Amino acid sequence: MAQLWGGRFTKETDKAVYEFNASIGFDRRLFRQDIEGSLVHAAMLAKQGILTEEENEAIANGLRGILADVESGALEISETYEDIHSFVEAVLTERIGEAGKKLHTGRSRNDQVALDMRLYTRERVTETAALLDELLSVILDTMEENLETYMPGFTHLQKAQPTTLAHHYGAYFEMFRRDRLRMEDIYERMNYCPLGAGALAGTTYPLDREYVARELGFVGPVMNSMDSVSDRDYLIEFLAALSVVMMHLSRFSEEMILWNSNEYGFVEIDDAYSTGSSIMPQKKNPDIAELVRGKTGRVYGALMSLLTTMKGLPLAYNKDMQEDKEVAFDAMDTAADCLTLFTGMLRTLKFRKERMAESAMKGFTNATDAADYLVRKGVPFRDAHGIIGRLVLYCIDRDTSIDRLTLEELRGISDRFDEDIYEAVSLKTCVENRLTTGGPGPEAMKQAISGYRSWMEGKKKGEGKGTGRKGAGERRRDER
Ligand code: ARG
Repeated sequence: MAQLWGGRFTKETDKAVYEFNASIGFDRRLFRQDIEGSLVHAAMLAKQGILTEEENEAIANGLRGILADVESGALEISETYEDIHSFVEAVLTERIGEAGKKLHTGRSRNDQVALDMRLYTRERVTETAALLDELLSVILDTMEENLETYMPGFTHLQKAQPTTLAHHYGAYFEMFRRDRLRMEDIYERMNYCPLGAGALAGTTYPLDREYVARELGFVGPVMNSMDSVSDRDYLIEFLAALSVVMMHLSRFSEEMILWNSNEYGFVEIDDAYSTGSSIMPQKKNPDIAELVRGKTGRVYGALMSLLTTMKGLPLAYNKDMQEDKEVAFDAMDTAADCLTLFTGMLRTLKFRKERMAESAMKGFTNATDAADYLVRKGVPFRDAHGIIGRLVLYCIDRDTSIDRLTLEELRGISDRFDEDIYEAVSLKTCVENRLTTGGPGPEAMKQAISGYRSWMEGKKKGEGKGTGRKGAGERRRDER
């Protein structure tokens, strides 16, 4: 048991209490952020004459040594310390002596953990944005290749009207684009530095908070020291945005599971992204999509958990807030894994285009177009609707489709039908004529796609807000 306090205590902490209180088991993953913050804090203290240049140098070298040793594995983050902050400070003092004890001047673990968590979350927001970019680019490529891949569009999971694969995927492009934009919003709103708030009420040392904020890549300091240490809104916003990402991934997964089923047969999930059955030799199961759908619940859970943790807390810091970490880390890891795997699954997915088109031909997806045909021949829409309804019933009785009826049969129901009906209800015509903005007609789709492309190009050039500037991958796998 190693802790930073104890002066006013006359007894050792009970072992169970110590363990219940400790957070090193999970805040250890903040070691980079903790050291980064301490480096800047010490430099600022020296700049303000609170530490000597020599002390700052000793601290900086010590901290860099700890960082390198933890990264190389030479130094293990020992669970005998209460939390990551205590660990770093204790090892520093062990290594450099007296100067190490001065690092915490003008600082509290309250603003320290607020900073660490914000730095960490900011990286994960950037990482999520990059993962969304990957997914968006796979979706967009598929759209470009499938402007004329016909398939049925559904409402109530019943065939409704014909559309294209490009159009169907386009809906997901819009959804994940909103998610991507949410990352930028969150980044921009959260990018203020809590360090320098002290425990809650600032400090009497002449700290330069603007300097610290700038050095750590923030727009400026958080302007109220109580809010600095008690705010986890940015984390809640991120978990909310991740919940929406997961909801989108889950819906997409559900569709891939359906499309991959024997009954639909629209797609074939790659062997590398499928699993077998221990008993049924014929099985190839869409487990990855099912897991993504299933893991959505735990990300929602993290959001609910943190909202509930925060709702009754008086200002400013309370230990309850330590409960933000495990659930948030789990949600961030889960969402990142799901985005990565789902994108890989989509990239290797095979489309069975003939089956999709065949399915679009069946199920009367051209019934609206047949009614529109009669409207063009002067029949009021409501009457046309009734006529085509009767026509559909006639087809169902004979197990056929509108386009396979003879002109004689068609005329038996309405004398307005002519030879040109066959072209009017062909799949190609039905799709091509849907040219309204946002519709599946290839010309309308091309226009949408070109807008999406230039938006994606802009992202690459870093035109977006903060998240566009840095690449992902700053976080390493060994953090977990
Ligand atoms: N482990 C704590 C947390 O995660 C760090 C802050 C501790 N501050 C305190 N006053 N006990 O919130």
